[in-house]
Amino acid sequence: MKILVTGGAGFIGSAVIRHIIGNTDDSAINLDKLTYAGNLESLQGAERSPRYAFERVDICDRVALDRVFHEHQPDAVMHLAAESHVDRSITGPSDFIETNIIGTYTLLESARAYWSALDEEKRGAFRFHHISTDEVYGDLEGPEDLFTETTPYAPSSPYSASKASSDHLVRAWARTYGLPTLVTNCSNNYGPCHFPEKLIPLIILNALEGNPLPIYGKGDQVRDWLYVEDHARALYKVVTEGAVGQTYNIGGHNEKQNIEVVRSVCALLDELLPESPSAPHFNLITHVSDRPGHDLRYAIDASKIQRELGWRPEETFDSGIRKTVEWYLGNPEWVAHVKSGSYQQWLNTNYSTRKESA
Ligand SMILES: NC(=O)c1ccc[n+]([C@@H]2O[C@H](COP(=O)([O-])OP(=O)(O)OC[C@H]3O[C@@H](n4cnc5c(N)ncnc54)[C@H](O)[C@@H]3O)[C@@H](O)[C@H]2O)c1
Repeated sequence: MKILVTGGAGFIGSAVIRHIIGNTDDSAINLDKLTYAGNLESLQGAERSPRYAFERVDICDRVALDRVFHEHQPDAVMHLAAESHVDRSITGPSDFIETNIIGTYTLLESARAYWSALDEEKRGAFRFHHISTDEVYGDLEGPEDLFTETTPYAPSSPYSASKASSDHLVRAWARTYGLPTLVTNCSNNYGPCHFPEKLIPLIILNALEGNPLPIYGKGDQVRDWLYVEDHARALYKVVTEGAVGQTYNIGGHNEKQNIEVVRSVCALLDELLPESPSAPHFNLITHVSDRPGHDLRYAIDASKIQRELGWRPEETFDSGIRKTVEWYLGNPEWVAHVKSGSYQQWLNTNYSTRKESA
């Protein structure tokens, strides 16, 4: 198979490409605009394979998309390109509307034109796999509640609202035009090559520098954490074996409060860097004012993908978080390169306005 992966220079997209190149005989075309979040160094050697190609293209650019479909003749699309950071969507929603909604619409139209012109066999085999988030469901009330594939949408942030819109567009293109689509909604990912604006890499890198570890509010928000390589395996299973028109929820059965996650990272750093002048690292924890509209709890019921496709996560939270911390300690060059001027500027904008809280 030839798979067109949008957003392949991002955190999850790069893990998907590393999986395709490292564990299958398929080819991957990485289509990415290379925003601040795109980093070709995250491909970690996969880019040297003859089965890999890169196209620097914006998913809002219809002409460029049509050219890519025409030149590469993919058998499937895995659509991960998105603006993905909730805090950025609050300070500046327009890029989220542009890429997540208009970009997905433009990609759907380009894919539909290409797919309609394929011969019958290829048209039947073609897949458009849209990668989405559990944040489209809003937050859960009861401590035992779980998001299923039929939970109604109730997004809270500009990010999750734009992802919800794109999910609706994909389902409409399937119902109206017959485009063979699949949708997956996944919980919070963590692992190697995660851009350090997100909680876990932010905490690791701040702790290494002896800087405060900012926790929103009390840190009691619950997320269901999934190791990114488990997610990449799940996505590949869905695009190759999933039933057309279906939605699959993907989760790690690892519900943790943010404060527990931060304490785990601190404990690992204490163990791996016993000489660190910042140990014990949990002394660096600083509570700051919460994000507006912050959902309290997300948790996924992943029984459908387990039952129907035989996927389940291989990493526990303990094994995955250890691998993650070790990866950041072992890859200082990757870290140094992503910590560019624009990233520093963003950190200042986001955190300088937050007051310390008790
Ligand atoms: N990170 C998570 O925990 C998580 C969980 C569930 C679902 N998701 C979804 O998975 C997908 C990937 O998330 P991620 O964390 O890897 O995101 P990311 O921000 O790390 O990467 C996004 C990638 O998309 C590219 N991109 C952005 N705008 C583009 C455009 N207009 N045209 C082409 N490329 C563009 C960026 O350059 C970047 O390489 C997103 O759709 C996100 O909504 C993420």
